[in-house]
Amino acid sequence: MSSHADSKPWTVPALAEAKRNGQKLVMLTAYDAGFARTFDANGVDLILVGDSLGMVVQGHDSTLPVTVDDIAYHTAAVAKVLQRALLVADLPFGADATPERAFEASLRFLQAGAEMVKIEGAGFKLDIIRYLVEREIPVCSHLGLTPQSVLRLGGYRVQGRGDAARQLRDDAAAVVQAGASMIVLECLPTPLAALVTAEVPVPTIGIGAGAQCDGQVLVMHDMLGLDSGHRRPKFVKDFLAEGGSVAGATRAFADAVRAGTFPDAEHAYAS
Ligand code: KIV
Repeated sequence: MSSHADSKPWTVPALAEAKRNGQKLVMLTAYDAGFARTFDANGVDLILVGDSLGMVVQGHDSTLPVTVDDIAYHTAAVAKVLQRALLVADLPFGADATPERAFEASLRFLQAGAEMVKIEGAGFKLDIIRYLVEREIPVCSHLGLTPQSVLRLGGYRVQGRGDAARQLRDDAAAVVQAGASMIVLECLPTPLAALVTAEVPVPTIGIGAGAQCDGQVLVMHDMLGLDSGHRRPKFVKDFLAEGGSVAGATRAFADAVRAGTFPDAEHAYAS
């Protein structure tokens, strides 16, 4: 099986090729140059400047207060040091409410060094995805538990159970049809995420969605076992405990994702 070389920078087309080759993708969030440099040098393929920064960096209770300025600032810091990893920037709450707003925000992120933007949800967001892709902005979709929906959902819990599974599969097909190059699947039963992964031609990146996704992402603070001040989700694992240093933890996480040993049953939702 051929695989993307360790020394070669990732590109958007190389992600689909990795899926075809069965190569697992390793993704972490990062918000500053110091951590991003370490992750990039220790086997991480994709870095996400996530709106999780609202909770783990700014100390809010949700991601809702995060602004376009916040994401642009952290994206610029991370972009300066990346040699190999592909940089994804999150469209924060409200920034993707209209195609024009989404384009303006995405443009700022690409000018800051991002190579892809991430959008939560399907529904009316399909038009936004299409609008951006038609304007040469690569898009990562985010389905399942979408933290920007916390007010409607009333909390953070597993999605896609029962009848909702059909809708999730339809949404995954629709975001691909709209032009998404990758899909983050958050907090889904393992069998559903495996089914979606088999059904779509683009890589799926799981977080609380089982080991059969094409790759895995964790918020860096969770991967390093830091107390976020919030309830620790089941899928979170402290890799610093086994890695012994930030670089060692990063390598332990990357190795476990590539070996398919993370997440194991203890860190996933069987149903
Ligand atoms: O904002 C973020 O960090 C994310 C990941 C949890 C996927 O969306």
